[in-house]
This record gives sequence, structure tokens and C-alpha cells, in this order.
Amino acid sequence: MENYNRLSDANIITAKYMDSILIESRYIDSVKANTETELFGDKFSMPVMTPAFSHLGNYNGREKTGLEEYSEAAKELNILNFCGMMENDLFKKIADTGAKTVRIVKPYADNGKVKDQMQYAESVGAFGIGMDIDHIFGENGYDVVMGEDMTFQTEDMLRSYVELTKLPFIVKGVLSVADAKKCAEIGAKAIIISHHHGRVPYAVPPMMVLPEIKDVLEGTGVKIIVDCGIASGADVFKAIALGADAAAVGRSMLPSLESEGKDGVKKFITGVGNELRYIMSSTGFETVSDIDSSVLYEL
Ligand SMILES: Cc1cc2nc3c(=O)[nH]c(=O)nc-3n(C[C@H](O)[C@H](O)[C@H](O)COP(=O)(O)O)c2cc1C
Repeated sequence: MENYNRLSDANIITAKYMDSILIESRYIDSVKANTETELFGDKFSMPVMTPAFSHLGNYNGREKTGLEEYSEAAKELNILNFCGMMENDLFKKIADTGAKTVRIVKPYADNGKVKDQMQYAESVGAFGIGMDIDHIFGENGYDVVMGEDMTFQTEDMLRSYVELTKLPFIVKGVLSVADAKKCAEIGAKAIIISHHHGRVPYAVPPMMVLPEIKDVLEGTGVKIIVDCGIASGADVFKAIALGADAAAVGRSMLPSLESEGKDGVKKFITGVGNELRYIMSSTGFETVSDIDSSVLYEL
């Protein structure tokens, strides 16, 4: 229909929602903050993570793939690293960078492949494993990604992955209280609240659903990570203030990765961390675990 221009892009809706959250300041008695963070028993320099990306080529003819380059940056920054769909040989290269890496495996129709990729990840030193449950369906039924069929995932299937590994199991693509409760029931150690850069039209912004999910997970020990549209320290701060333990940047780091590889990602994420520390200091929160929503306003 001509001039029928409804907004359905969840990326735009999410950005607008995040921009509607405002921050007050509290200077008196405040000191310079510290962004160090503990997750799954390990210490990281900040609650900022790399995204679970896949299919990045070799930028500007450089020898290593973008995936290896950003993993090296994660190692040097001491932040938690993520990666997405790939075969075992590429995962090995990522593991060999020494970055603490969570491998997000696809919900392949071939369940043997799911289990093989998870076990392989553990055998070569992955920090954690997980699955992006928001890549199950496509408009024609079950999704097909790079020629590979995906399929449904039941609670029992997810529980079998938890039981398969000693590593933390992380469910990516949770965007409801209903799924969050099931993740706690199957023994997931963390969830990533995400709409996977807007796979579903009108997907609710992760930060909008976050407080309800935080409430329902209270006391379960399940950690909460947020992604989608995270591009600054202010975005990370808002996510944590609303109840997240950490946030992952996404396509926001791609220009730096493409132009300058590892060093570009290091510069970009250091900037995100510096802005986070600046906002923490300016709001009176000395440590990440101190941050709460009492400093937030909505437009
Ligand atoms: C090039 C590219 C590849 C991606 N591959 C995967 C993947 O294999 N597995 C996965 O869970 N998410 C994948 N994602 C989604 C990201 O992990 C993340 O959820 C999303 O990019 C967040 O939104 P943002 O880019 O707007 O921040 C991919 C995203 C991009 C841009």
C-alpha cells in the first residue's frame, strides 16, 4: 500500500527505546569507579562482551578472519568472548587465541552435529557453550541457515545439552519471561536477552523485557546478558541498571574491526568501557554490582 509506512524494524524500535532511558548524576561523595566484573567465577576487566558472530571474512586482505581478530582483542582486553555458527576447524583457531570464548551452536536439525560441536568446543578449551534458540523458525517453517536445516528445541533437548558438559550452558535469544523460566528449569547458567538484530518484526526491546525477567530469575543464579543495539558505555550502563550482569556489543564494533582488526576492536571496546566507568563515577556507583535503576528516568 502506498505511503503505508509502519515501523516494524525491531532495531529501530530498540534504539528508540534505549534512547528514551535517561540518567541522573550524583557527584557528591562519588569516587572514580571500577568496571571489573566477575562472571562464572572468573574476573573480567568490564561487563562488556564481544558478539556471537559468524561468517566474517578476511578484512582488507588481512591474513586472519575477523572472528580471529576480534577474539584476539577479547583476549588482550580480558573480556568474555563469543562466537556463533561455524565448523570445528574455525572454532579451534578461535580457541587457540586464548580468549575465554563461549561457542553458540545453532539449533541444527542434525542433533548429532549439535552435540559434536558442543563436545568439540569443550575438548579444545571453550569457556562456555550455548545455543541461539531464536534461529529455529523462518517464514517457510523451520529455518535453513547456510544450507543447514534447523529444528525445534524442547526443554528436554536443552536439558540434555546442559547434562552433556561441565561448562556453563548459555541460552541466547530469550525475549520473554516464559522462556527465561524454562532456562532456569533446565539448568542454564546464563541467558542472553536478544532479538538477534531484529529477526521478528516488532520484537520487544531486550531492555524493556529485562526487568520482568530479572524478577523471575531472582534467586536462581542464572546470569543475564543483554545484546542488540549496544554501542556505547551508556547502553551498557542502562542494561546493568535494569538488571543485566553484562552486555554484548554487536554490529557497532564492525567498522572498527573492518578497518583496523584487533587494534580497532580494542580501541572501540576500551572506549565503551571508559564511558561506562565515567557514567558509573558520575552516578555514584563505585563497582558494577552497585549499579541500580534508581538513577534512571524515562522520557
Ligand atoms: C555477521 C553476523 C553474524 C552473526 N552470527 C550469529 C551466529 O552465528 N549466532 C548467533 O547467535 N548470533 C549471530 N549474530 C547475531 C549477534 O550475535 C547479535 O545477537 C546481534 O548482532 C545483536 O544485534 P546488534 O548487531 O544490533 O547489536 C550475528 C550477527 C551478525 C551481524
